[in-house]
Amino acid sequence: MNNKTALITGASKGIGKEFARIHASKGDNLVLIARNEELLNSFKKELMEQYKSISVEIIVKDLTKPNSAQEVYKELKEKNIQIDYLINNAGFGDYGFFVDTQWDRYDQMIDLNVKSLTHLCHLFLTDMMNRKDGKILNISSTAAFQPGPMMAVYFATKSYVLHLSEALNNEAKQSNVSVTAFCPGPTDTYFMEDSKMGTSKFIKNRKLPSAHAVALAGYDAMMSAKPVRIYGFMNKLTAFSVRLVPRKWVVSILRKMQE
Ligand SMILES: NC(=O)c1ccc[n+]([C@@H]2O[C@H](COP(=O)([O-])OP(=O)(O)OC[C@H]3O[C@@H](n4cnc5c(N)ncnc54)[C@H](OP(=O)(O)O)[C@@H]3O)[C@@H](O)[C@H]2O)c1
Repeated sequence: MNNKTALITGASKGIGKEFARIHASKGDNLVLIARNEELLNSFKKELMEQYKSISVEIIVKDLTKPNSAQEVYKELKEKNIQIDYLINNAGFGDYGFFVDTQWDRYDQMIDLNVKSLTHLCHLFLTDMMNRKDGKILNISSTAAFQPGPMMAVYFATKSYVLHLSEALNNEAKQSNVSVTAFCPGPTDTYFMEDSKMGTSKFIKNRKLPSAHAVALAGYDAMMSAKPVRIYGFMNKLTAFSVRLVPRKWVVSILRKMQE
């Protein structure tokens, strides 16, 4: 019997929900975290009906709140649930000029995309390295590879996730634990509406890949212990080509694309 457990943050919608479906199909038990209790409950019901042999634990939590990562860790310890796969997926962005966006939005973005992700890594990586077993998948973005005018804070948070993951992967390797940074490009999820990014030239009228296709690539990258995986050929090419162009040109091009 398979007894591995995957913890997935942001599992009520989008890419996180698809990560949950993929793990369930492999027979993994699940711990699903998000704020929307109703969505989590109905998703749990759907999974339990489809996959009779797995257990699904839901934790309703706002990961922007102080100590939320510690609370998750404590709850799982009390329930004696060991995490074999940690997928730090919850995150959001916001499209617009830096000064036009309320500070609270950035405060929460940094708390979610950076702080809670780092805290969860710190808590679970320690246990994984002691056991010499486990895998972490941190969802970064193609936004990580260059500065992003009109989404400046979001791009910077995703750059942080990329660099953190690569460094942690290097430190954890000798303990047989991997940390993968997964970098999708624009994907067809609620993110587009929530971040208002759907209005940018870069996105308008583009056919975006599905959350399921993107999650499958992320799952494969984590299972094969890749340090970094970029989703899609064109995204890979773009991430590579920004290295060949002067930085100030890259920023100007990005500004034009984002407008
Ligand atoms: N879609 C894209 O184009 C794209 C591209 C590159 C990278 N990404 C990254 O992929 C990840 C998943 O995004 P997505 O596209 O699947 O977005 P999504 O459809 O908006 O889903 C975001 C998930 O995060 C959860 N979440 C948001 N705020 C939270 C909070 N404060 N506490 C706990 N959970 C929270 C949401 O659930 P609740 O609302 O129920 O809390 C939801 O389950 C993000 O890190 C995003 O930056 C997305």
